[in-house]
Amino acid sequence: MSYVPIRVSTLRGNQKISFDVYVQVAGKHILYLRSGDSFEGARLQRLKKKNLKKMYILQNSEGAYRNYMTQNISMALDRNSGKSIEDRSSIIQGAQQASAESLMESPTSQMAYSSAKEGVGHFVNFLLTENEALKSLMDMDMTDENSVAQHGVAVSTTAVALATKLGWKDQQELTLVALGALVHDIGHVEMGYDITQDPSKLSAEARRSYEKHPIVGADLVKSLRHFDSTVINIILEHEEMINGQGFPNKLTEKKLDPSSMVVAVCNTLDRIVRYNQLKPVDAGKKLLIDMIGRYPLNYLQTLQKITISPELL
Ligand SMILES: [Fe+2]
Ligand SMILES: [Fe+2]
Repeated sequence: MSYVPIRVSTLRGNQKISFDVYVQVAGKHILYLRSGDSFEGARLQRLKKKNLKKMYILQNSEGAYRNYMTQNISMALDRNSGKSIEDRSSIIQGAQQASAESLMESPTSQMAYSSAKEGVGHFVNFLLTENEALKSLMDMDMTDENSVAQHGVAVSTTAVALATKLGWKDQQELTLVALGALVHDIGHVEMGYDITQDPSKLSAEARRSYEKHPIVGADLVKSLRHFDSTVINIILEHEEMINGQGFPNKLTEKKLDPSSMVVAVCNTLDRIVRYNQLKPVDAGKKLLIDMIGRYPLNYLQTLQKITISPELL
């Protein structure tokens, strides 16, 4: 029998699966979930805790798996599907995570890029048209896996919210911010950095290597024609600060792309949530106090307001 890998983050929501799912243990495939099971609540939590990125299906189930994904996403995007906003958000979050994983694993694939961009377009639209979507996504624990992609989805969510509240209206511009945010840490994937490690607690030597991740990431994609320049800028500049105290190039405000600063401040918020184990609302307060002078003041204030009342409409 031959098996093909599937991404765990695509298994979301209460739609029953119509295929068996296997895990690989010591080179053997073991049946983990049967056709007829679904992935909400406790089962999803257990699965996430295992920190598996991939599971397997039999090759002859590929069609059934693809149908499941398509149905799940169209159900999630359809406000008349009768599904709760939490279920719908969880499916969208999983789909975004899967496309981030796939693009960060294969940045040279034009197909991975265009399908991530298309998915991000749906994601932006979902956030802008469903009033409860932002709250529901921000309430979700996106720090429970050592996953650069999951972190990317969290940053992407607040980045769309911040840009929108700052008055950015161009859907194309919002899509590029969201896409850049989704894969901003591609350098971590390349370097194998474990994002459960708080970078402020690294040794001097480990810190020097850590600070290379924006350049490593940008170098991976800068010559690829399918990558938009905004996305490349975000990858390179997301650790910079307006006062020149960021890295890798210690740039100051005038030289930085505003899209990069939107992602940078949202990235810092997620870092505060993650390493201090704070709720977004408490992290927003700490962000404003600790980061004054490092990011544009209106970005900090607007983002803090978003953590207090996460609504876009
Ligand atoms: Fe980073
Ligand atoms: Fe990051």
